[in-house]
Amino acid sequence: MNPQKNLDLGTFAQDVLIGLSSKPKSLPSKYFYDAKGDKLFQAIMAMPEYYLTRKEFEILENQFDKILASQLAHGKPFNLVELGAGDGLKTKILLRHLLQVQADFEYYPIDFSGSVLKELKDSLTEEMPGLQVFPIEDTYRGSLLQRSWANERPTLILFLGGNIGNFPLKEAKDVLDHLRLGTKPGDQVLLGFDLKKHPQVILDAYHDPSGITREFNLNLLGRMNRELGANFDLDTFLHWPSYNPVNGECRSHLVSLKKQEVFVSALDQSFKFRAYEPIFTEISKKYSLPEIAKLAKNAGFKSVDKFTDSENYFADVLWERL
Ligand code: AVJ
Repeated sequence: MNPQKNLDLGTFAQDVLIGLSSKPKSLPSKYFYDAKGDKLFQAIMAMPEYYLTRKEFEILENQFDKILASQLAHGKPFNLVELGAGDGLKTKILLRHLLQVQADFEYYPIDFSGSVLKELKDSLTEEMPGLQVFPIEDTYRGSLLQRSWANERPTLILFLGGNIGNFPLKEAKDVLDHLRLGTKPGDQVLLGFDLKKHPQVILDAYHDPSGITREFNLNLLGRMNRELGANFDLDTFLHWPSYNPVNGECRSHLVSLKKQEVFVSALDQSFKFRAYEPIFTEISKKYSLPEIAKLAKNAGFKSVDKFTDSENYFADVLWERL
């Protein structure tokens, strides 16, 4: 391959080139979330097997006052920054409370998906007209390096939904290092972690019989067909999630059911698949509470409080930057 000809490719094309040239093949999970993927993820959140969203919703509904107590106590105007804001359904619990007590704050939702940000902004304008919203379309790390919010104000960064679980441990630590870079002493972060639990419960959340997660996973191939002129035949790939209770990693794959060659026009290149060769597409790592406490310490944060649901399925932990 001649690297010169790929210099002008967009990041999606570049990441596809890197991922499909790797051994084993992989694709970054952040590309799930185009308009179609956003809709599919909303359908996932509504599935009975996908407990994560409901559990975190329960935590926020029952404990929002404790979660927000220190931001309301300092009495200064503050920033509420959210990494991976999504549809904002859970965040609205916190926003509603803050508006009700007339807190002086600005909300900075950050998301890699422009379509999701636009919908969020529209729904907030309608539901909470007084709210000051400044959407940022960027990656987690990009936005933390950029810090486009007013820096002298106290800041609470939300990183909900278990999104940190989408990184293998080493990279999760790097994201937390960026959280430290993007905050100042006294700033707080609220992080959602999916906890280690019965392996079957975890596996079922990523292997629903209705096939919605399968469609979500396959959308990566569909998106390459749509945006990069690829010719993936989606029916020849199998959605295959697995959960490893030792390291807490739930990993999803797309397995080629036959020997085949796929052409990607934007790269002017084809990629060969052996029969049963997998593409690794997503990690959703689960943690124990002691593992989370250790992450905080190593990243330069103090654990302030932790909030869990009644079954201890999920935890939102509040850390303070040292
Ligand atoms: C949005 C990253 C929290 O990993 O559980 C859901 C994405 N993938 N089903 C997760 C997802 C398959 C989800 N996060």
